[in-house]
Amino acid sequence: MKHITVNLENKSYPIYIASEGWSQLSRAIGGKIKGNKVLVVCDENIYPLYYNSVKSVLISMGYRVNPAVIPPGEVSKSFDKALELYTHALEARLDRSSSIVALGGGVVGDLAGFIAATYMRGIGFIQIPTSLLAQVDSSIGGKVAINHPLAKNIIGAFYQPDAVFICPDTLVSLPSREFATGMAELIKHAFIADPDFISWLEENMIALISRDVEALSSAIHRSCLIKTGVVEQDEKETGLRMILNFGHTIGHAIEAATGYSKYTHGEAVAMGMIYESSIAMKMGLVNQGYINRLSDILRRAGLPTQLDTPAWGPIVERMIHDKKNVNQGIVLVLPTGYGKVSIIKDLNPEQVKQMLQ
Ligand code: GLY
Repeated sequence: MKHITVNLENKSYPIYIASEGWSQLSRAIGGKIKGNKVLVVCDENIYPLYYNSVKSVLISMGYRVNPAVIPPGEVSKSFDKALELYTHALEARLDRSSSIVALGGGVVGDLAGFIAATYMRGIGFIQIPTSLLAQVDSSIGGKVAINHPLAKNIIGAFYQPDAVFICPDTLVSLPSREFATGMAELIKHAFIADPDFISWLEENMIALISRDVEALSSAIHRSCLIKTGVVEQDEKETGLRMILNFGHTIGHAIEAATGYSKYTHGEAVAMGMIYESSIAMKMGLVNQGYINRLSDILRRAGLPTQLDTPAWGPIVERMIHDKKNVNQGIVLVLPTGYGKVSIIKDLNPEQVKQMLQ
């Protein structure tokens, strides 16, 4: 079992990557779960697959366990669902010393973490991410949130878990589009911070897309090390943490402009990375070889690299409202070489549009 410690100013917590499977769960998180009452939040797809495995381990460790099952998808990151979960927590008599376990993908982690952060001003929180996206990105670093009808992730907190347990076995049955969406974040980590990891991904792509558990464990471990290193230096995203948004300014705008239904998050981020790299090329920061190498690796991971019908007007309009922006200018994270990016602020929207066209 691989192990990383996230060292933050006010808290340290472990991330376990268990290629040996659920059998490692009690060794990993025994002692990390606060209290003796646990609410396990999962969605309707994950419940039949993994709830019983997790429940038996928790019961064998002496915990009283209750499930809270939510519908799958972004629609559950709502005020209504949050209210239902607070009700579940009250009915299960969770108190200040109890814990919430998020068992699932990014939606479950964000929503369950938001409840853990706010119920009784904050209770124990364990992340057991089951999608690649959650394992390499959303379960690490403490961002938790629900959506407002007008904006995604706008009501939230930085609330670090007490432990993260990753079981790469869960990826073997993940639908390919969902697997690819996680690959986009993993590839992003390599391109923002680690040129050797780029070469490793190129060499091991066949093993990864064939869901070889050893290859997946190594890739998740390297990816989590990169994210952890960034979060340790800038937990609350006052500067450096923004580099994790490579591909995301344009990616988020693509998702919003296409009604969050045409592309998955990772597909939009993959295209976002290519378009942001094209802007970087026009600014003389990277060359065509960089874009070709990034496109090639994204395509091999099953991701799109360009929009079918780019409509830059509405996309740039959405970029203007990105929450990373300050004043009127657009903020972009642009590559400056393999494993290197820079945060470029105050870009003029009209110029950005011209460069994209
Ligand atoms: N997903 C980007 C971050 O955690 O900061």
